[in-house]
Amino acid sequence: MVPKSQSVLIHPAKRLGGVLTMPGDKSISHRVAILAATAKGSSTVLNYLQSEDCLNTLHAMERLGARSFFSEEGELTIQGTGGKFLEPVDALDLGNSGTGMRLLAGLLAGLRMKAELTGDQSLCSRPMNRIKEPLEKMGATIELLGDNGRPPIRIQGGGLKGIDYAIPVASAQVKSCILLATLFAGGTTTITEVLPTRDHTERCLRAAGVPLKSEGLRIQMAGCGPKGPRLKARTWAVPGDFSSAAYALAAAAARPDSTVTVKNVGLNPRRTALLQVLERMNARIQVNDRSGPDDAEPFGDVTISGSRLTATEVGGAEIPAMIDELPLVAILGALAEGETVIRDARELRVKESDRIACMAANLKLLGVDVEEREDGMAIRGPARLEPVAGIRSYSDHRIAMSLAVLGTYGVGPVCIHNVACVQTSYPAFWDHLIALGAHVE
Ligand code: S3P
Repeated sequence: MVPKSQSVLIHPAKRLGGVLTMPGDKSISHRVAILAATAKGSSTVLNYLQSEDCLNTLHAMERLGARSFFSEEGELTIQGTGGKFLEPVDALDLGNSGTGMRLLAGLLAGLRMKAELTGDQSLCSRPMNRIKEPLEKMGATIELLGDNGRPPIRIQGGGLKGIDYAIPVASAQVKSCILLATLFAGGTTTITEVLPTRDHTERCLRAAGVPLKSEGLRIQMAGCGPKGPRLKARTWAVPGDFSSAAYALAAAAARPDSTVTVKNVGLNPRRTALLQVLERMNARIQVNDRSGPDDAEPFGDVTISGSRLTATEVGGAEIPAMIDELPLVAILGALAEGETVIRDARELRVKESDRIACMAANLKLLGVDVEEREDGMAIRGPARLEPVAGIRSYSDHRIAMSLAVLGTYGVGPVCIHNVACVQTSYPAFWDHLIALGAHVE
């Protein structure tokens, strides 16, 4: 295991392969923590992701009055509040998590109380006007205490009414924020998306007993009034995180002799566009969907057999369905023959880091022919990766993990600085990379 808050040295590896079982999905874990804390009674959560981001959300729910504990086997019990939350005395700290902050802002806006949400330096530089606008339309008072619409967020909630709202950016976090606010609102909310984004909130709400209509880009939900919903406490089984599995898939993708299987991974089609992209690039993919009709989310196993990759273009509706995998597409582009283009991905500039600028800067340091564009980048491969002493994660977990995978394809060791951020989403990452055969120091 690679200790926290260190640099790592990644050595080139000839062959990587094996079978991994994936830890719980980050997006779904956040939603389950919030809904189980809102429900009345005791919920059991199997495979809750014990990463910094999801534990911060769980702690925030405890500060609001829920109780939770993990068994030795990692099974989580959440004792819900039945919608009777406590007003927190000081700010709730969501660490690095945009999802945690935006979803909780939605819930808190519905509650008749004052609350403040804060986070680390990266989170406090992320745009929050995108949630302030709809929440204020619903009737909450939202103050953004940072410069230029940035956190901390001060919320005076309660007395909300449903709205008819077209979300100007493709964002599941904004959509989920509005839906969670609607739980404690009067009237009906109708949301229109610009493109389909991950629908975990809609699926989780239905599974908890909240009816909701969705058709194409429109979602309609009736508010449950100021007393809030009567959510069912239940057992939640969180599928493995496709976004984490993607690193193992990329580790095999450009190695003609390598095969990797990721087991128990979420297969929600609004998350898995990377599979089609990998196929276009020439990798062979086999999917075994093991879910049944009663499962809220599809899940199963994915096997990839690597090959010599060819370049591709990604853009349009594919982008939200692989938004967190785009740094990986950039590294696959560096390994593929021809010009790989990522377009329509401006949103990458407001993630945990500016992922367009940070990936382009790192790829350049490694000797890759890359052109940064306003809404993405063009990468011309295959590159012969220079051994370098210092590439930086910019404290962004997805940049750190993407570079680590790329490092295994190098001709000499690559040192990546500041990799503690990996703990936010995938604490098992280094162990998994080593289990596949990588040499990591
Ligand atoms: C998430 C939505 C996406 C994604 C993030 C998780 C979610 O963000 O990038 O990692 O759980 O709803 P946006 O909604 O900002 O696109």
